[in-house]
Amino acid sequence: MPATKAVYTCQNCGTQSPKWMGKCTSCGEWNTYVEEVIEKKRTSGKAVVLNLKNEPVTLEKIQTSKTQRIVSGINEFDRVLGGGIVPGSLILLGGDPGIGKSTLALQLALKLNGLKILYTSGEESLQQIKLRAERLKISNNNCLFLSETSLENLVAHAEQSMPDVLIIDSIQTISTEIIESSPGSVSQVRECTSAILKFAKKSGVAVILIGHINKEGSIAGPKVLEHIVDTVLQFEGDTNYMYRILRSNKNRFGSTNELGIFEMSSDGLLEITNASEHLISKISSDVSGTAIAATIEGIRPILIEIQALVSSAAYGTPQRSSTGFDLRRLNMLLAVLEKRAGFKLIQKDVFLNIAGGLRISDPATDLAVICSILSSNIDIPVDHKVCFAGEVGLTGEIRVINRIEQRIAEAAKLGFRKIIIPKLNKGFNASRFNIEIVQTGRVEEVFKHIFG
Ligand code: TYD
Ligand code: MG
Repeated sequence: MPATKAVYTCQNCGTQSPKWMGKCTSCGEWNTYVEEVIEKKRTSGKAVVLNLKNEPVTLEKIQTSKTQRIVSGINEFDRVLGGGIVPGSLILLGGDPGIGKSTLALQLALKLNGLKILYTSGEESLQQIKLRAERLKISNNNCLFLSETSLENLVAHAEQSMPDVLIIDSIQTISTEIIESSPGSVSQVRECTSAILKFAKKSGVAVILIGHINKEGSIAGPKVLEHIVDTVLQFEGDTNYMYRILRSNKNRFGSTNELGIFEMSSDGLLEITNASEHLISKISSDVSGTAIAATIEGIRPILIEIQALVSSAAYGTPQRSSTGFDLRRLNMLLAVLEKRAGFKLIQKDVFLNIAGGLRISDPATDLAVICSILSSNIDIPVDHKVCFAGEVGLTGEIRVINRIEQRIAEAAKLGFRKIIIPKLNKGFNASRFNIEIVQTGRVEEVFKHIFG
Protein backbone atom coordinates (compact mmCIF):
# COMPACT_ATOMS: atom_id res chain seq x y z
CA MET A 1 0.00 0.00 0.00
CA PRO A 2 1.45 3.44 -0.89
CA ALA A 3 2.30 5.67 2.06
CA THR A 4 1.22 8.83 0.29
CA LYS A 5 -1.94 9.81 -1.51
CA ALA A 6 -2.64 12.74 -3.80
CA VAL A 7 -5.87 14.66 -3.44
CA TYR A 8 -7.08 17.87 -5.01
CA THR A 9 -8.21 20.50 -2.53
CA CYS A 10 -10.17 23.65 -3.24
CA GLN A 11 -8.06 26.47 -1.78
CA ASN A 12 -11.15 28.53 -1.22
CA CYS A 13 -13.43 26.28 0.76
CA GLY A 14 -11.39 23.17 1.48
CA THR A 15 -13.49 20.66 -0.47
CA GLN A 16 -11.44 17.65 -1.55
CA SER A 17 -11.74 15.66 -4.72
CA PRO A 18 -9.83 12.64 -6.08
CA LYS A 19 -9.47 14.37 -9.46
CA TRP A 20 -8.84 17.90 -10.64
CA MET A 21 -11.82 20.09 -11.38
CA GLY A 22 -12.01 23.49 -13.05
CA LYS A 23 -14.91 24.71 -10.98
CA CYS A 24 -15.46 23.80 -7.35
CA THR A 25 -18.75 22.00 -6.96
CA SER A 26 -19.08 23.26 -3.43
CA CYS A 27 -18.28 26.98 -3.48
CA GLY A 28 -18.47 27.62 -7.23
CA GLU A 29 -15.01 29.22 -7.51
CA TRP A 30 -12.91 28.57 -10.62
CA ASN A 31 -9.33 27.26 -10.74
CA THR A 32 -9.01 26.76 -7.03
CA TYR A 33 -8.09 23.04 -7.04
CA VAL A 34 -4.48 22.32 -6.15
CA GLU A 35 -2.86 18.93 -5.86
CA GLU A 36 -1.82 18.11 -2.33
CA VAL A 37 0.03 15.05 -1.18
CA ILE A 38 -1.09 13.57 2.08
CA GLU A 39 0.89 10.96 3.92
CA LYS A 40 -1.34 8.20 5.12
CA LYS A 41 -1.12 7.47 8.78
CA ARG A 42 0.38 4.02 9.15
CA THR A 43 -2.24 2.32 11.20
CA SER A 44 -2.06 -1.07 9.56
CA GLY A 45 -1.27 -3.96 11.85
CA LYS A 46 -2.41 -2.11 14.97
CA ALA A 47 -5.51 -3.44 16.64
CA VAL A 48 -8.00 -0.83 17.84
CA VAL A 49 -8.09 -0.81 21.63
CA LEU A 50 -11.46 0.11 23.04
CA ASN A 51 -11.40 2.55 25.95
CA LEU A 52 -14.58 1.93 27.89
CA LYS A 53 -13.54 4.10 30.84
CA ASN A 54 -14.89 7.04 28.90
CA GLU A 55 -18.60 6.54 29.59
CA PRO A 56 -21.64 8.62 28.78
CA VAL A 57 -22.89 10.50 31.88
CA THR A 58 -25.83 12.67 32.89
CA LEU A 59 -25.49 16.44 33.17
CA GLU A 60 -25.62 16.18 36.96
CA LYS A 61 -22.51 14.07 37.13
CA ILE A 62 -20.37 16.37 35.02
CA GLN A 63 -17.84 18.13 37.23
CA THR A 64 -17.34 21.78 36.49
CA SER A 65 -14.68 23.93 37.95
CA LYS A 66 -15.25 27.65 37.91
CA THR A 67 -12.64 28.61 35.37
CA GLN A 68 -11.27 32.04 35.93
CA ARG A 69 -11.12 33.99 32.72
CA ILE A 70 -7.91 35.79 31.87
CA VAL A 71 -8.68 39.50 31.85
CA SER A 72 -6.29 41.37 29.60
CA GLY A 73 -7.09 44.89 30.67
CA ILE A 74 -7.89 45.85 27.07
CA ASN A 75 -11.58 46.32 27.87
CA GLU A 76 -12.80 46.38 24.29
CA PHE A 77 -11.09 43.02 23.66
CA ASP A 78 -12.26 41.39 26.89
CA ARG A 79 -15.84 42.46 26.29
CA VAL A 80 -15.96 40.99 22.80
CA LEU A 81 -14.75 37.69 24.22
CA GLY A 82 -17.52 37.75 26.83
CA GLY A 83 -15.41 38.81 29.80
CA GLY A 84 -11.88 37.67 29.06
CA ILE A 85 -9.93 34.76 27.64
CA VAL A 86 -11.10 31.29 28.68
CA PRO A 87 -8.13 29.03 29.56
CA GLY A 88 -7.79 26.17 27.11
CA SER A 89 -9.76 27.91 24.40
CA LEU A 90 -8.66 28.43 20.82
CA ILE A 91 -9.36 31.91 19.49
CA LEU A 92 -8.99 32.77 15.84
CA LEU A 93 -8.28 36.41 15.10
CA GLY A 94 -8.95 37.00 11.42
CA GLY A 95 -8.76 40.04 9.20
CA ASP A 96 -7.36 41.58 6.04
CA PRO A 97 -3.59 42.05 5.81
CA GLY A 98 -2.44 45.31 7.35
CA ILE A 99 -5.52 45.84 9.47
CA GLY A 100 -3.61 45.57 12.75
CA LYS A 101 -3.90 41.94 13.89
CA SER A 102 -0.23 41.63 14.86
CA THR A 103 -0.38 44.97 16.64
CA LEU A 104 -3.44 43.91 18.65
CA ALA A 105 -1.89 40.54 19.51
CA LEU A 106 1.39 42.10 20.60
CA GLN A 107 -0.36 44.76 22.63
CA LEU A 108 -2.37 42.02 24.30
CA ALA A 109 0.75 39.96 25.03
CA LEU A 110 2.51 42.91 26.60
CA LYS A 111 -0.54 44.01 28.57
CA LEU A 112 -1.04 40.58 30.18
CA ASN A 113 1.32 41.47 32.97
CA GLY A 114 2.03 38.82 35.58
CA LEU A 115 1.09 35.96 33.26
CA LYS A 116 3.41 33.86 31.18
CA ILE A 117 2.95 34.55 27.49
CA LEU A 118 4.57 32.89 24.51
CA TYR A 119 4.34 34.98 21.35
CA THR A 120 5.44 33.08 18.27
CA SER A 121 5.72 34.68 14.89
CA GLY A 122 6.37 33.16 11.52
CA GLU A 123 5.83 36.47 9.80
CA GLU A 124 8.21 38.79 11.57
CA SER A 125 11.74 38.46 12.88
CA LEU A 126 12.43 39.02 16.57
CA GLN A 127 14.03 42.37 15.69
CA GLN A 128 10.87 43.49 13.93
CA ILE A 129 8.78 42.48 16.94
CA LYS A 130 11.10 44.43 19.21
CA LEU A 131 10.77 47.54 17.01
CA ARG A 132 7.01 47.24 17.15
CA ALA A 133 7.03 46.78 20.92
CA GLU A 134 9.16 49.90 21.24
CA ARG A 135 6.56 51.80 19.25
CA LEU A 136 3.86 50.55 21.56
CA LYS A 137 5.88 51.75 24.56
CA ILE A 138 4.90 48.82 26.80
CA SER A 139 7.36 46.39 28.30
CA ASN A 140 6.72 43.04 29.91
CA ASN A 141 9.43 40.70 31.05
CA ASN A 142 7.15 37.69 31.40
CA CYS A 143 6.52 37.61 27.69
CA LEU A 144 8.66 35.22 25.65
CA PHE A 145 9.13 35.63 21.90
CA LEU A 146 9.91 32.99 19.34
CA SER A 147 10.31 33.12 15.60
CA GLU A 148 9.17 29.72 14.30
CA THR A 149 7.30 28.23 11.36
CA SER A 150 7.39 24.52 12.13
CA LEU A 151 4.33 23.22 13.92
CA GLU A 152 6.25 20.42 15.64
CA ASN A 153 8.89 22.80 17.02
CA LEU A 154 6.27 25.29 18.06
CA VAL A 155 4.23 22.76 20.01
CA ALA A 156 7.39 21.38 21.60
CA HIS A 157 8.40 24.87 22.77
CA ALA A 158 4.92 25.53 24.08
CA GLU A 159 4.87 22.21 25.95
CA GLN A 160 8.21 23.03 27.50
CA SER A 161 7.43 26.59 28.60
CA MET A 162 3.72 26.00 29.37
CA PRO A 163 2.56 29.60 29.03
CA ASP A 164 -0.84 30.90 30.16
CA VAL A 165 -1.48 32.28 26.71
CA LEU A 166 0.12 31.22 23.44
CA ILE A 167 -0.10 33.62 20.51
CA ILE A 168 0.61 32.36 16.99
CA ASP A 169 1.12 34.85 14.16
CA SER A 170 -0.04 33.52 11.73
CA ILE A 171 -1.59 30.12 11.01
CA GLN A 172 -0.76 30.56 7.30
CA THR A 173 2.97 30.57 7.99
CA ILE A 174 2.98 27.42 10.13
CA SER A 175 3.49 24.05 8.50
CA THR A 176 3.64 20.45 9.60
CA GLU A 177 6.00 17.87 8.21
CA ILE A 178 3.36 15.18 7.84
CA ILE A 179 1.78 17.02 4.92
CA GLU A 180 3.76 17.88 1.84
CA SER A 181 1.76 20.82 0.56
CA SER A 182 3.04 24.36 1.03
CA PRO A 183 2.36 26.48 4.13
CA GLY A 184 -0.92 28.34 3.86
CA SER A 185 -2.67 25.67 1.80
CA VAL A 186 -5.99 24.44 3.09
CA SER A 187 -4.74 21.03 4.22
CA GLN A 188 -1.73 22.53 6.04
CA VAL A 189 -3.87 25.13 7.77
CA ARG A 190 -6.47 22.55 8.76
CA GLU A 191 -3.96 20.01 10.01
CA CYS A 192 -1.97 22.60 11.99
CA THR A 193 -5.09 24.06 13.58
CA SER A 194 -6.30 20.62 14.65
CA ALA A 195 -2.93 19.90 16.23
CA ILE A 196 -2.95 23.26 18.03
CA LEU A 197 -6.51 22.63 19.22
CA LYS A 198 -5.44 19.28 20.63
CA PHE A 199 -2.57 20.98 22.44
CA ALA A 200 -4.85 23.71 23.84
CA LYS A 201 -7.45 21.25 25.15
CA LYS A 202 -4.88 18.91 26.65
CA SER A 203 -2.74 21.55 28.32
CA GLY A 204 -5.34 24.20 29.21
CA VAL A 205 -3.26 26.86 27.48
CA ALA A 206 -5.35 29.56 25.81
CA VAL A 207 -4.26 30.00 22.20
CA ILE A 208 -4.79 33.04 20.02
CA LEU A 209 -4.32 32.20 16.39
CA ILE A 210 -3.97 34.92 13.78
CA GLY A 211 -5.32 34.21 10.28
CA HIS A 212 -5.40 36.23 7.08
CA ILE A 213 -8.36 36.56 4.84
CA ASN A 214 -7.55 36.50 1.17
CA LYS A 215 -10.33 36.58 -1.36
CA GLU A 216 -8.16 35.33 -4.20
CA GLY A 217 -7.97 31.98 -2.47
CA SER A 218 -4.20 31.66 -2.87
CA ILE A 219 -3.93 31.60 0.89
CA ALA A 220 -6.44 29.51 2.76
CA GLY A 221 -9.09 31.73 4.24
CA PRO A 222 -9.91 31.22 7.90
CA LYS A 223 -13.36 30.02 6.75
CA VAL A 224 -11.98 26.49 6.83
CA LEU A 225 -11.00 26.95 10.46
CA GLU A 226 -14.22 28.35 11.80
CA HIS A 227 -15.57 24.89 12.61
CA ILE A 228 -12.47 23.88 14.52
CA VAL A 229 -11.87 26.86 16.80
CA ASP A 230 -13.92 27.97 19.83
CA THR A 231 -14.08 31.65 19.02
CA VAL A 232 -13.75 33.57 15.78
CA LEU A 233 -12.88 37.23 16.10
CA GLN A 234 -12.95 39.41 13.04
CA PHE A 235 -10.85 42.54 12.95
CA GLU A 236 -12.11 44.90 10.31
CA GLY A 237 -12.12 48.45 9.11
CA ASP A 238 -10.93 50.45 6.20
CA THR A 239 -7.13 50.72 6.23
CA ASN A 240 -7.52 54.30 4.97
CA TYR A 241 -9.37 55.22 8.13
CA MET A 242 -8.12 54.91 11.66
CA TYR A 243 -11.11 53.07 13.13
CA ARG A 244 -10.98 49.32 13.61
CA ILE A 245 -13.84 47.13 14.72
CA LEU A 246 -13.44 43.85 16.53
CA ARG A 247 -16.44 41.54 16.18
CA SER A 248 -17.01 38.03 17.31
CA ASN A 249 -18.54 35.85 14.59
CA LYS A 250 -18.60 32.75 16.72
CA ASN A 251 -18.13 32.39 20.44
CA ARG A 252 -18.57 29.19 22.43
CA PHE A 253 -18.11 31.14 25.68
CA GLY A 254 -20.15 34.28 25.19
CA SER A 255 -22.46 36.31 23.04
CA THR A 256 -21.65 37.27 19.47
CA ASN A 257 -23.37 40.61 19.83
CA GLU A 258 -20.51 42.48 21.39
CA LEU A 259 -18.22 44.72 19.45
CA GLY A 260 -14.98 46.52 20.25
CA ILE A 261 -13.88 49.78 18.67
CA PHE A 262 -10.25 50.81 18.36
CA GLU A 263 -8.35 53.59 16.75
CA MET A 264 -4.99 52.93 15.07
CA SER A 265 -2.60 55.59 16.27
CA SER A 266 1.14 56.04 16.05
CA ASP A 267 1.44 54.29 19.44
CA GLY A 268 -0.64 51.27 18.47
CA LEU A 269 -4.34 50.62 19.00
CA LEU A 270 -6.28 52.87 21.34
CA GLU A 271 -9.61 51.81 22.83
CA ILE A 272 -12.58 53.95 21.93
CA THR A 273 -15.23 53.97 24.61
CA ASN A 274 -17.21 57.03 23.47
CA ALA A 275 -17.63 56.00 19.83
CA SER A 276 -20.48 58.38 18.97
CA GLU A 277 -18.45 61.47 19.78
CA HIS A 278 -15.73 60.28 17.44
CA LEU A 279 -18.03 59.37 14.58
CA ILE A 280 -19.95 62.60 14.24
CA SER A 281 -17.94 65.22 12.44
CA LYS A 282 -18.20 68.65 13.96
CA ILE A 283 -17.71 70.53 10.72
CA SER A 284 -20.46 69.38 8.39
CA SER A 285 -23.34 70.78 10.46
CA ASP A 286 -24.61 73.22 7.85
CA VAL A 287 -23.88 71.19 4.73
CA SER A 288 -26.70 69.43 2.93
CA GLY A 289 -26.61 65.66 2.51
CA THR A 290 -25.76 64.55 6.03
CA ALA A 291 -27.99 62.99 8.66
CA ILE A 292 -27.23 61.31 11.97
CA ALA A 293 -28.45 57.76 12.57
CA ALA A 294 -28.96 56.39 16.06
CA THR A 295 -27.81 52.83 15.42
CA ILE A 296 -27.04 49.83 17.57
CA GLU A 297 -23.87 47.98 16.71
CA GLY A 298 -23.64 44.74 18.63
CA ILE A 299 -25.38 45.78 21.81
CA ARG A 300 -23.95 49.25 21.92
CA PRO A 301 -25.74 52.38 20.75
CA ILE A 302 -23.64 54.44 18.36
CA LEU A 303 -24.56 57.66 16.62
CA ILE A 304 -23.18 57.72 13.12
CA GLU A 305 -23.10 60.32 10.41
CA ILE A 306 -24.51 59.29 7.03
CA GLN A 307 -23.39 61.31 4.03
CA ALA A 308 -25.14 61.31 0.69
CA LEU A 309 -24.49 63.06 -2.58
CA VAL A 310 -27.20 63.22 -5.20
CA SER A 311 -26.39 64.75 -8.55
CA SER A 312 -27.79 64.61 -12.07
CA ALA A 313 -26.50 61.59 -13.96
CA ALA A 314 -23.97 62.47 -16.61
CA TYR A 315 -24.54 59.23 -18.51
CA GLY A 316 -27.63 57.30 -19.42
CA THR A 317 -27.50 54.88 -16.51
CA PRO A 318 -27.32 56.62 -13.15
CA GLN A 319 -24.63 55.44 -10.77
CA ARG A 320 -25.42 54.16 -7.32
CA SER A 321 -22.57 53.55 -5.00
CA SER A 322 -22.27 53.09 -1.27
CA THR A 323 -19.46 52.67 1.23
CA GLY A 324 -20.29 50.94 4.48
CA PHE A 325 -23.97 50.39 3.61
CA ASP A 326 -25.52 47.54 1.63
CA LEU A 327 -25.92 48.65 -1.98
CA ARG A 328 -29.02 46.50 -2.52
CA ARG A 329 -30.65 48.11 0.47
CA LEU A 330 -29.76 51.56 -0.90
CA ASN A 331 -31.41 50.65 -4.22
CA MET A 332 -34.46 49.42 -2.36
CA LEU A 333 -34.73 52.67 -0.39
CA LEU A 334 -34.38 54.71 -3.59
CA ALA A 335 -37.16 52.68 -5.18
CA VAL A 336 -39.39 53.29 -2.15
CA LEU A 337 -38.73 57.04 -2.33
CA GLU A 338 -39.53 57.00 -6.04
CA LYS A 339 -42.64 54.86 -5.97
CA ARG A 340 -44.23 55.57 -2.61
CA ALA A 341 -43.19 59.11 -1.81
CA GLY A 342 -42.97 60.54 -5.32
CA PHE A 343 -39.38 61.77 -5.29
CA LYS A 344 -37.83 61.74 -8.74
CA LEU A 345 -34.44 60.17 -8.30
CA ILE A 346 -34.37 57.93 -11.35
CA GLN A 347 -32.09 60.24 -13.37
CA LYS A 348 -29.77 60.96 -10.44
CA ASP A 349 -26.45 59.57 -9.37
CA VAL A 350 -26.55 58.63 -5.68
CA PHE A 351 -23.43 58.16 -3.56
CA LEU A 352 -23.68 57.13 0.06
CA ASN A 353 -20.97 57.03 2.66
CA ILE A 354 -20.90 56.02 6.30
CA ALA A 355 -18.45 58.32 8.08
CA GLY A 356 -15.37 56.78 9.68
CA GLY A 357 -15.16 53.80 7.32
CA LEU A 358 -17.59 51.72 9.37
CA ARG A 359 -19.90 49.08 7.94
CA ILE A 360 -23.43 49.26 9.22
CA SER A 361 -25.99 46.48 9.12
CA ASP A 362 -28.58 47.85 11.54
CA PRO A 363 -31.86 48.34 9.57
CA ALA A 364 -32.74 51.31 11.77
CA THR A 365 -30.18 53.29 9.76
CA ASP A 366 -32.68 53.47 6.85
CA LEU A 367 -34.36 56.64 8.02
CA ALA A 368 -31.13 58.62 8.27
CA VAL A 369 -30.06 57.27 4.86
CA ILE A 370 -33.30 58.48 3.30
CA CYS A 371 -33.05 61.87 4.98
CA SER A 372 -29.46 62.40 3.87
CA ILE A 373 -30.41 61.54 0.28
CA LEU A 374 -33.39 63.90 0.28
CA SER A 375 -31.34 66.62 1.94
CA SER A 376 -28.71 66.40 -0.76
CA ASN A 377 -31.36 66.23 -3.48
CA ILE A 378 -33.03 69.48 -2.46
CA ASP A 379 -29.81 70.99 -1.12
CA ILE A 380 -31.21 71.88 2.31
CA PRO A 381 -29.22 70.79 5.36
CA VAL A 382 -30.82 68.65 8.05
CA ASP A 383 -30.72 70.34 11.46
CA HIS A 384 -27.61 68.87 13.06
CA LYS A 385 -29.28 68.61 16.44
CA VAL A 386 -31.77 66.05 15.06
CA CYS A 387 -31.10 62.34 14.71
CA PHE A 388 -33.02 59.42 13.24
CA ALA A 389 -33.81 55.80 13.98
CA GLY A 390 -36.26 53.74 11.94
CA GLU A 391 -36.48 50.92 9.46
CA VAL A 392 -38.21 51.71 6.17
CA GLY A 393 -40.51 49.10 4.65
CA LEU A 394 -41.40 48.56 1.02
CA THR A 395 -44.62 50.54 1.25
CA GLY A 396 -42.85 53.57 2.70
CA GLU A 397 -43.97 52.81 6.24
CA ILE A 398 -41.57 53.26 9.13
CA ARG A 399 -41.24 50.02 10.97
CA VAL A 400 -40.66 49.21 14.60
CA ILE A 401 -37.06 48.94 15.74
CA ASN A 402 -35.45 47.31 18.74
CA ARG A 403 -33.71 48.84 21.77
CA ILE A 404 -35.43 52.18 21.32
CA GLU A 405 -34.65 53.40 24.83
CA GLN A 406 -30.93 52.86 24.39
CA ARG A 407 -30.94 54.83 21.16
CA ILE A 408 -32.88 57.71 22.70
CA ALA A 409 -30.63 57.75 25.76
CA GLU A 410 -27.47 57.91 23.63
CA ALA A 411 -28.90 60.76 21.52
CA ALA A 412 -29.93 62.67 24.66
CA LYS A 413 -26.53 62.08 26.23
CA LEU A 414 -24.79 63.61 23.23
CA GLY A 415 -26.91 66.73 23.40
CA PHE A 416 -29.28 66.12 20.47
CA ARG A 417 -32.42 68.22 20.58
CA LYS A 418 -34.75 65.85 18.75
CA ILE A 419 -34.92 62.20 17.71
CA ILE A 420 -37.28 60.88 15.05
CA ILE A 421 -38.46 57.34 15.67
CA PRO A 422 -41.22 55.00 14.39
CA LYS A 423 -44.81 55.67 15.41
CA LEU A 424 -45.36 52.06 16.35
CA ASN A 425 -42.55 51.93 18.89
CA LYS A 426 -44.42 52.10 22.17
CA GLY A 427 -43.87 51.23 25.78
CA PHE A 428 -40.99 53.50 26.65
CA ASN A 429 -41.03 56.30 29.15
CA ALA A 430 -40.44 59.48 27.14
CA SER A 431 -40.30 61.74 30.20
CA ARG A 432 -37.12 59.99 31.31
CA PHE A 433 -35.16 61.57 28.49
CA ASN A 434 -34.14 65.15 28.05
CA ILE A 435 -34.84 65.18 24.32
CA GLU A 436 -37.86 65.82 22.09
CA ILE A 437 -39.17 62.56 20.66
CA VAL A 438 -41.09 62.70 17.39
CA GLN A 439 -42.90 59.56 16.23
CA THR A 440 -43.66 59.18 12.55
CA GLY A 441 -45.45 56.55 10.50
CA ARG A 442 -44.36 57.19 6.91
CA VAL A 443 -41.41 58.61 5.01
CA GLU A 444 -43.49 61.54 3.63
CA GLU A 445 -44.29 62.58 7.20
CA VAL A 446 -40.61 62.61 8.10
CA PHE A 447 -39.87 64.66 5.02
CA LYS A 448 -42.56 67.21 5.92
CA HIS A 449 -41.36 67.37 9.49
CA ILE A 450 -37.72 67.97 8.58
CA PHE A 451 -37.91 70.14 5.50
CA GLY A 452 -41.35 71.72 6.04
P1 TYD B 1 -0.14 45.00 11.52
O1 TYD B 1 -0.47 44.74 12.95
O2 TYD B 1 1.19 44.56 11.06
O3 TYD B 1 -1.25 44.37 10.58
P2 TYD B 1 -1.58 42.82 10.29
O4 TYD B 1 -0.84 41.99 11.26
O5 TYD B 1 -3.07 42.72 10.43
O6 TYD B 1 -1.17 42.55 8.89
O7 TYD B 1 -0.26 46.58 11.35
C1 TYD B 1 -0.82 47.19 10.26
C2 TYD B 1 -0.57 48.68 10.17
O8 TYD B 1 -0.66 49.36 11.37
C3 TYD B 1 0.78 48.98 9.61
O9 TYD B 1 0.62 49.36 8.27
C4 TYD B 1 1.28 50.15 10.41
C5 TYD B 1 0.17 50.48 11.33
N1 TYD B 1 0.64 50.80 12.69
C6 TYD B 1 0.38 52.04 13.22
O10 TYD B 1 -0.23 52.91 12.57
N2 TYD B 1 0.79 52.33 14.50
C7 TYD B 1 1.46 51.41 15.26
O11 TYD B 1 1.83 51.71 16.41
C8 TYD B 1 1.75 50.14 14.69
C9 TYD B 1 2.49 49.10 15.48
C10 TYD B 1 1.30 49.87 13.42
MG1 MG C 1 0.73 40.72 10.83
